[in-house]
Formats: sequence, structure tokens, C-alpha cells
Amino acid sequence: MFMMKQMMQYFYCNSWSWYYYWWWVVVATAVLEAGGDSSSSRNVTYDGRSLIIDGQRELLLSGSIHYPRSTPQMWPYLIGKAKEGGVDVIQTYVFWNVHEPQPGQYDFSGRNDLVKFIKEIQAQGLFACLRIGPFIESEWTYGYPTCLGLPFWLHDIPGIIYRSDNEPFKFFMQNFTTKIVNMMKSEGLYASQGGPIILSQIENEYQNIEAAFHEKGPSYVRWAARMAVGLQTGVPWIMCKQSDAPDPVINTCNGMRCGETFAGPNSPNKPSMWTENWTSFYQVFGGSPYIRSAQDIAFHVALFIAKKGSYVNYYMYHGGTNFGRSGAAYVMTSYYDQAPLDEYGLIRQPKWGHLKQLHAAIKSCSVTLLHGVHTNFSLGQLQEAHVFQDGSEGCVAFLVNNDPRKNATVQFQNASFELVPKSISILADCRDIIFNTATVKTKYNFRRTTPSQMFNSSERWEEFKDVIPSIFDTSIKSNTLLEHMNMTKDTTDYLWYTFRYLQNSNCTEPLLHIESRGHVVHTFANDMYSGSAHGSHDVKGFTFENSSILLNNDINNNISVLSVMVGLPDSGAYLESRFAGLTNVEIRCSDGFSYNLTNHDSGYQVGMLGEKLQIYNEQNLSNVDWIKATISTNQPLTWYKAIFDVVVGDELPLALNLSSMGKGEAWVNGQSIGRYWVSFHTSKGAPSQTLYHVPRSFLKPSGGGNLLVLFEEIGGDPLGISLNTISVDPPIAGPVSVPVPVPVQEEMDHHRQNLMLLMEL
Ligand SMILES: *[C@@H]1O[C@H](CO)[C@@H](O)[C@H](O)[C@H]1NC(C)=O
Ligand SMILES: *[C@@H]1O[C@H](CO)[C@@H](O)[C@H](O)[C@H]1NC(C)=O
Ligand SMILES: *[C@@H]1O[C@H](CO)[C@@H](O)[C@H](O)[C@H]1NC(C)=O
Ligand SMILES: *[C@@H]1O[C@H](CO)[C@@H](O)[C@H](O)[C@H]1NC(C)=O
Ligand SMILES: *[C@@H]1O[C@H](CO)[C@@H](O)[C@H](O)[C@H]1NC(C)=O
Ligand SMILES: *[C@@H]1O[C@H](CO)[C@@H](O)[C@H](O)[C@H]1NC(C)=O
Ligand SMILES: *[C@@H]1O[C@H](CO)[C@@H](O)[C@H](O)[C@H]1NC(C)=O
Ligand SMILES: *[C@@H]1O[C@H](CO)[C@@H](O)[C@H](O)[C@H]1NC(C)=O
Ligand SMILES: *[C@@H]1O[C@H](CO)[C@@H](O)[C@H](O)[C@H]1NC(C)=O
Ligand SMILES: *[C@@H]1O[C@H](CO)[C@@H](O)[C@H](O)[C@H]1NC(C)=O
Ligand SMILES: *[C@@H]1O[C@H](CO)[C@@H](O)[C@H](O)[C@H]1NC(C)=O
Ligand SMILES: *[C@@H]1O[C@H](CO)[C@@H](O)[C@H](O)[C@H]1NC(C)=O
Repeated sequence: MFMMKQMMQYFYCNSWSWYYYWWWVVVATAVLEAGGDSSSSRNVTYDGRSLIIDGQRELLLSGSIHYPRSTPQMWPYLIGKAKEGGVDVIQTYVFWNVHEPQPGQYDFSGRNDLVKFIKEIQAQGLFACLRIGPFIESEWTYGYPTCLGLPFWLHDIPGIIYRSDNEPFKFFMQNFTTKIVNMMKSEGLYASQGGPIILSQIENEYQNIEAAFHEKGPSYVRWAARMAVGLQTGVPWIMCKQSDAPDPVINTCNGMRCGETFAGPNSPNKPSMWTENWTSFYQVFGGSPYIRSAQDIAFHVALFIAKKGSYVNYYMYHGGTNFGRSGAAYVMTSYYDQAPLDEYGLIRQPKWGHLKQLHAAIKSCSVTLLHGVHTNFSLGQLQEAHVFQDGSEGCVAFLVNNDPRKNATVQFQNASFELVPKSISILADCRDIIFNTATVKTKYNFRRTTPSQMFNSSERWEEFKDVIPSIFDTSIKSNTLLEHMNMTKDTTDYLWYTFRYLQNSNCTEPLLHIESRGHVVHTFANDMYSGSAHGSHDVKGFTFENSSILLNNDINNNISVLSVMVGLPDSGAYLESRFAGLTNVEIRCSDGFSYNLTNHDSGYQVGMLGEKLQIYNEQNLSNVDWIKATISTNQPLTWYKAIFDVVVGDELPLALNLSSMGKGEAWVNGQSIGRYWVSFHTSKGAPSQTLYHVPRSFLKPSGGGNLLVLFEEIGGDPLGISLNTISVDPPIAGPVSVPVPVPVQEEMDHHRQNLMLLMEL
């Protein structure tokens, strides 16, 4: 195989015309496919240049796709589109909290079917990088899902300190890591067993917080590395953003500009790898999308490769959806929609196509890049060259113009090149420009949203008003304010704080003053809604005040405050001791006197009644009395339900437009499509997210009688809801939601045929 690659490279980098380039793409795919043969074990090691698979250095392009953020029905399509885009490796975190919801109780079903996901990667002939963490952050609730996704029950383990040299934490971390590694081994999924997994990650961006743990930090890093290596996966381990990763664990870079920022491997024997090249940035409620251009991404990837990088991962290649309550604090339900494959899996152009061309250009010269001698030199004040020379065989050059505004004319090997601003030109044979990062040849496409049905008839809606408890209704009492997460244990977003106090006749113009450390409060005085307030991703603490509420003198007033969390925190040190919920509650009278309810009797109720009765499930609907919807937009804490049909056959992705609603959560046939929050506007006055993905697989196979349930916290108008199909213009061939079965064997044979043809040329 090496001979073949060498030969192809020789052709391409020396004398091939662009015409033959496409032959190369076919062949490159064939080589990888052949690597996907599950019968043979592979030897994955590394040296100072790259990962080495069966003795050959490999330059690998990787894309993150997280299995719980899409559906098993979407996986084959997503992985296929990643492969078509020139991606060799699919990288995913392992989401501890979804897999081990209670200690020793595991869930690997449905969207959590990690083995099925890895096998799908294998079926399509790609490699996998398994980032076990088990701390993942990943904007997943409690870190717990982007980089860790810790299960909440850990919080209640006595004496635990997360991610530190702490015996209880190490016990559970080792237990879960071992569980996953053993599971992968028993399915034969490591490359050493003939499977697709060529890398595993332990911990995640730990260096960011390491100092906070003093001497317990470095000793934890050493323990984690030793523990991981001891599991004997037969493939290398990596630690991202950990410059002192102990041997043989490879330290890798995360960021937007690793070509500029990465200090490099911590040993000359380790390759330079970029595990998170952010294709955008996660978005929060109240925030605007971060749009990273195709040109900017391509520039930084090319720069990283130019500086001897040999592994680049796009974070994310497909972001997907934070279904249910899985998003971390304030993180939006739509995740990295700006990635090369958008939330629905649709190709986002020109990003997808431009990067595909970049990948092909890099791959066409990979032998020289991995074996050639690297030199770099200046071509001007802001211009530089990186050259890889492989004996007399191959030569590849990267001509970099760092000037963001002006063209630069440079001399390189007796020829003159005009370099456009902020660009890298890749020269095959050190002569012919085969790719320029700033020159986008891929056409833009546009996403189209087409209403397919309106919910504008009040006939179809029924409602149920949830109950506002008073202190008499609560079973948990305290005389100090209790911490929110410690009460809910992440089983719900909602915690009721209730109070009762006798107001004297001398109190005039009472003002309700509440301070909270997260994330939202809805207030009720004597059962009357008295307004809401919330913090934001960046400023979690906030104050609520209302001076025009109905409180009466000489009687006992009931104050009920619903504290809401929009996901748990996901990053930082000492996550186990974070505080959320109310910190101060007072009634301030105009004469300066106040009733301080902070250290006063308070009562607690965890969750809403409708949640407890699971009235979003068809079989539990009759647990409450639904009435014909009265539809007033000022109606807080209301459940709405409607039945809808869809036409099956048209397989475009679907999304609900919830722009007429306020804040809450939505379910389709009992499955949560996530939190919505359209009343939280960006600085430009628009909701951050109005469209909410409804995966086709959540619908009934017949298309008929689907149940939509919403829980609205503040007040919204369900008559304004519509169901929409999502498509792109120009369209992508083939169905999107329903995967085409991939005829792996046939495809391989087809590629082999092309390969044979090519060799005859
Ligand atoms: C794996 O490859 C490394 C170097 O590439 C080599 O030293 C080692 O012997 C190989 N191991 C096996 C089992 O082939
Ligand atoms: C992990 O802990 C569970 C109990 O919580 C135990 O049953 C299991 O054997 C442990 N597994 C490992 C690999 O230590
Ligand atoms: C990462 O990707 C972004 C675009 O998503 C690009 O701008 C950046 O340069 C890349 N950085 C690296 C180190 O690949
Ligand atoms: C070559 O690249 C290295 C690493 O980026 C840099 O430190 C050095 O200054 C460069 N040399 C020249 C001559 O530009
Ligand atoms: C550049 O030109 C000089 C003088 O004509 C020649 O000696 C040298 O080989 C040329 N270099 C390349 C790379 O063509
Ligand atoms: C910059 O260079 C490009 C490529 O050679 C050329 O098409 C463009 O006209 C130049 N722009 C300016 C302002 O000279
Ligand atoms: C609902 O919307 C559709 C499409 O906009 C419109 O034709 C219909 O008249 C509306 N129905 C009601 C009851 O408003
Ligand atoms: C959490 O609640 C338990 C009782 O349920 C209490 O003993 C403990 O002190 C609380 N911890 C925090 C941090 O509030
Ligand atoms: C109002 O009445 C309360 C309770 O009797 C008393 O403590 C407080 O001092 C009074 N405030 C004023 C301004 O008189
Ligand atoms: C406070 O709540 C109790 C119990 O629900 C109720 O009996 C009482 O009338 C309420 N007080 C006011 C002022 O609404
Ligand atoms: C204050 O409470 C009153 C009465 O419940 C309500 O009408 C009003 O909208 C609230 N004001 C704010 C700013 O929330
Ligand atoms: C109310 O009580 C809390 C807890 O004792 C205290 O921190 C706060 O300062 C008090 N507020 C006022 C206005 O005295």
C-alpha cells in the first residue's frame, strides 16, 4: 500500500495535471477503505512526525460528531458526508452522565448507543478517536458534556473533589473509563483488534484549571495518564491542552489558531496534533452566532500542516442538537449549527466544499509532508514559506501571506507569486498552486425554511395550568435558602422556593427584592404572576425587583418563586461546589424597613407537577385534566398539547418555529426536542434560536397522530407555532433524514477497480 501511495504522490506532486487530481481522490479513498478491513489488526504508534499505522506515517483529517446530539438514523448520513468531505477520522466524546445516570446503572440505548456509532464509522471505512474524558465539558450539562459530562450523582459522593488527586473521584473515573475501554475491547473496536479506534483521550483541557488544585493537580495528571495507559488499548492516548502530558501520552492543541499558538509536542518523538479546530463557537441563549469563514478555517488548517502538523480535527464537523436538558448553562439547543454540516446534517457551503478541496490538496502531497525535510524562511515582512523536500522526489511549499489587507508579490524558487491577503497557497512540486485558502471556488448555498403546517387553529390546542405551590404544599422546609442543584439533583430545571410572612400595616409600597445566582426566576405573590428575571452565560448572578405587586397588610402573604436552571455549569475548577439558586429574598417597605426572608422559614418543591406526572407522554396524558386552550399570551406555567400529522415520503428535515413562545421545553411523542427560549433576545433584539429540530425518527412511522407537548414558563401564543421543512438551495442530492444504506463492500470493489485502472495508466 505504501508503494502505491508513494507512486501516486510522485505522479501528482511532480507531473499530474488537475485532471488527474480526481483520480487521486478516488484512490485515496480506496486506500483508507482498505484500511477499514475489520479482519486485520493494525499497529498504531507514532513518531515526531505523525501517527504511524502499520508502519506508515499518516496525515489525518478528523471531524467531531457527537452521537447523542443526533439520532442513530442520522449517523450513517452524517458520517458519509464527513467522509465525502475528506475526513478520515470521526472524533467523539463519551458522555458519562448519559451512560451512567445512577452509579452502576448503564444506558447505551438509542442515541446513547456508542458501540453502534463506532461500528457505523467502521462500516464506512473511517477511523475513530474516542475522547473518554471522562470530563468532557463540551457545553454539555455539568461539563459534563463537552469535555466531561459528569453524572450529577458524583456530587453527593462524600469528600469528592472532581478532577483532582482525590480518591473518591479517581475511583469512579477509573471505574467508568475501564467500563468503556472494556466495552470497546469486547466489541473488537480498537485498531489493535482490527477496529476503527486509533486514538483515545484521557481528561480534557485540564491545564486550564490545574493550578487551582495545587499539588493535587500534577499528581492527578500523572495518575490519569498511568491509569489510561494501564488499560492497554493497543492505541495511543492523547491529552488535549496539557503541555506536560506524561509519556507516552501525546499532548495536543485545542483552539482556533493552533498553527500560531501551539508550542508543539513536549517530546521530539511525539507528533503535532490539533484535536479541536473550532469551526465556529458554541452559541448561548441571548448570544449571536459566531461565524467563522471557510477562508479563515482553511488558512489555519493549512498553517498547522505547514508547521508539520499531521492531525487536525474540526470541532465540530457536525454539531447537532442538545436534546432534552443536555445543554450546559445557557447553552442553546442548536449546537454548532455553523459547522460544515449544519444542525440538520445539511451541507453548509462554501465551508464544506472549500475544506474538502483543502483536504484533497493536502492529501495529494502527504507523503512529502510526512517524510520530507521541513524548512521555513521569510519571503517578506509578513510573508513566509514552509517547504517540505523529500530527496529529489517530492517538494511541497506553503506560501503564507499574513498581511490581512494587501497582496504581496514574492519570489520563490525563481518564480514570482502574487499572494492575496491573509492566505496560504499550497504548491505541488513547489511550483504549481493547487490550493489557495482565500480563494473560494465553492458556491454558497442557502438554507430554506418552508412552513408545512400551521398550528393556528385554537381547536387543536388543549392546555393544563401547572400548580403554584404555597409553603403549605411543600414537604421540604428550611430556615436558610437551599442551593438549587443540591435539591434538584439535575432531575429537573425547576425548584420552587416558597415563603409566607405577616405584613404589618405600617409597610407602604412593598417591593419584592430577590437576588439569585442562576439562572432564571419567575415570581408569584398570592398566586399572581409578578414577573421574571434572568442572568446570562457571562453574568450568572442577577437581581429581580417589582414594586407593584399585590401584597396585603395585616395578613399572611404567600410568595412563591420558581428558580430555573438552564443547564448545569460545564467548566472550571471545583465544579462540585458551585452554587445556584436564590441567595437573598426581601420585602422592602418604603420607610426603609424590610422583611428579610433569607433566613426565614422557606419550603421547597422540586420540579413541576406536569413533569412529575410525565404528561408529555401519550400514556400519561389523562393524569391531569386538559381543557380547551384559552390562549392568552400572558399565561405563565402552562402546558399545551396538540396532535399533528406529517406526510411521510418527503424526507427533508423538520423544525418547529417557536418564535411566538417565551421559554420552556417541547416534546414530540414523549421525546424532548430540547429547551426553547425565544424571549431572551440578542443585543440586536432578535431571539437566538427560533427553529427547533424535530428528528424524523421521533415521529410515528405512519406519520399520523403525533403528540406535541410544550411547557411554557412565561407566556406565549401556541397559535403562532408552525412546522417547517428545512432544505438548502441548491439542493443536496439524496434524502437527508433517512440514511441510504451504504453498500460498503460494493463501494470498495468499485474503488479497487478504479485503482487498478489507474495503475495501468
Ligand atoms: C508496531 O510498530 C512499531 C513502530 O512503527 C514497531 O516498533 C513495533 O514492533 C510494531 N509492533 C507490532 C506488533 O508489529
Ligand atoms: C464499577 O463499580 C461498580 C459498582 O458501582 C462495580 O459493580 C463494577 O464492578 C466496577 N467496575 C470496575 C471496572 O471497576
Ligand atoms: C480551526 O478552524 C478554524 C475555522 O473553523 C480556522 O479558522 C482555524 O484557523 C483553524 N485552526 C487550526 C489550528 O486548524
Ligand atoms: C521558522 O519557524 C519557526 C517556528 O514557527 C520560527 O520560530 C522561525 O522564526 C521561523 N524561521 C524563519 C527564518 O522564519
Ligand atoms: C534558479 O535559478 C538559478 C540561476 O538561474 C539556478 O541555478 C537554480 O537552479 C534555479 N533554482 C530553481 C529551484 O529552479
Ligand atoms: C491580488 O492578487 C490576485 C491574484 O493574483 C489578483 O487577482 C488581484 O487582482 C490582486 N489584487 C490587487 C488589489 O492587486
Ligand atoms: C392558518 O394559516 C393558514 C396559512 O397561513 C391560513 O390559510 C389560515 O387561514 C389560518 N387559519 C386560521 C384559523 O387563522
Ligand atoms: C445538600 O443537601 C444535603 C441534604 O439534602 C445537605 O446535607 C448538604 O449540606 C447540602 N449541600 C450543599 C452544598 O448545600
Ligand atoms: C413597622 O412595624 C414593625 C413591626 O411592628 C416594626 O418592627 C417597625 O419598626 C415599624 N416600622 C416603622 C417605620 O414604624
Ligand atoms: C396563601 O396560601 C394558603 C394556602 O394555599 C391560602 O389558604 C391563603 O389564602 C393564601 N393567602 C393569600 C393571601 O392568598
Ligand atoms: C410586577 O407585578 C405586577 C403585578 O403582579 C405585574 O403586573 C407586573 O407586570 C410586574 N412588573 C414586572 C416588571 O415584572
Ligand atoms: C437578610 O439576611 C441575609 C442573611 O442573614 C443577609 O445576608 C442580608 O444582608 C439581609 N438583608 C438585609 C437587608 O439586612
